Amino acid sequence: MSNQTRMNVTVTEVVEVNSLIKRFRFVREDGGAMPGFSGGAHTVVEMDDNGTRRLNAYSLMSDPADSSGYEISVRRDDSGRGGSLFMHKGVKPGMKMVISQPVNLFGLDLRARKHLMIAGGIGITPFIAQMAQLDSLGHRFELHYAARDADLCAYGAELSARYGERLHRYYDVEKQAIDLANLLKTQPIGTHLYVCGPKGMIGWVLSTAQKMGWPKGALHSEEFLAPPVGEAFTVQLSRSGVSIDVGPTQSMLEALEAAGIDAPYLCRGGACGQCECKVDAAEGEILHYDHWLSDDQKAAKTHIMPCVSRFKGERLVIDL
Ligand code: FES
Repeated sequence: MSNQTRMNVTVTEVVEVNSLIKRFRFVREDGGAMPGFSGGAHTVVEMDDNGTRRLNAYSLMSDPADSSGYEISVRRDDSGRGGSLFMHKGVKPGMKMVISQPVNLFGLDLRARKHLMIAGGIGITPFIAQMAQLDSLGHRFELHYAARDADLCAYGAELSARYGERLHRYYDVEKQAIDLANLLKTQPIGTHLYVCGPKGMIGWVLSTAQKMGWPKGALHSEEFLAPPVGEAFTVQLSRSGVSIDVGPTQSMLEALEAAGIDAPYLCRGGACGQCECKVDAAEGEILHYDHWLSDDQKAAKTHIMPCVSRFKGERLVIDL
């Protein structure tokens, strides 16, 4: 981890939450307190996956008031690059790992009169920490949580028991759907809206709110974007002239790091803008997967986000 402080931790708990999700608890190896964080923060977990170094970001779901450890939940992705499979199959209690200090790109705006939260699937995790924080502060909130079925509605029953009528659950298999237009219409002025879940859900919630006149500053979203797999390609660095091969299950950022380049990052998911690189030459197609660059910037092929985006073609040269 180049620009984030690393911490040596021990895995103290691995819990199977449902058929797809496992929860992990980390405590500091030196027995000290974990650094403080606010709801919505993530940590980057470093993995040695059969010789491939992976750094995956996961939302912290434990209570921000609990400095004894951090908890994350990981959804297994059988067709992904392997990070979630490594966490599911390779990580056991007692194992030593390295994680980053928390960074928050999905923070609460505590000036809001009310916090309206919408979660889809594993997108529930940042809200678990946020609700604990809001509850302890006495702030007003409600959460609408959609999942495929009761089994995949991770933590739904516990959260309902804890937060009562502030928690609403919807199961796709029972054809239950969030009545979004009505929900957005009936909120008090000064409400902030937060959404975390699959891409389609985020787009639906944000575009509906914008059409209904919600101010941009009151809308907050976080998408869990894993770097996609793809064809191998080579990137050339203009300052040193060095060429670096990017493997099919490796992100360009991971390939740069493996080559000893100290490349900046925060989210590793195409959202924060930190890793943005200027493109000096692109003879071929840049496969943009980020949410950071504008459509015009993407079409102009002048910039690339190495944490998620890939390349297909003859030659890619970036300003590094
Ligand atoms: S690290 Fe955040 S966009 Fe690449």
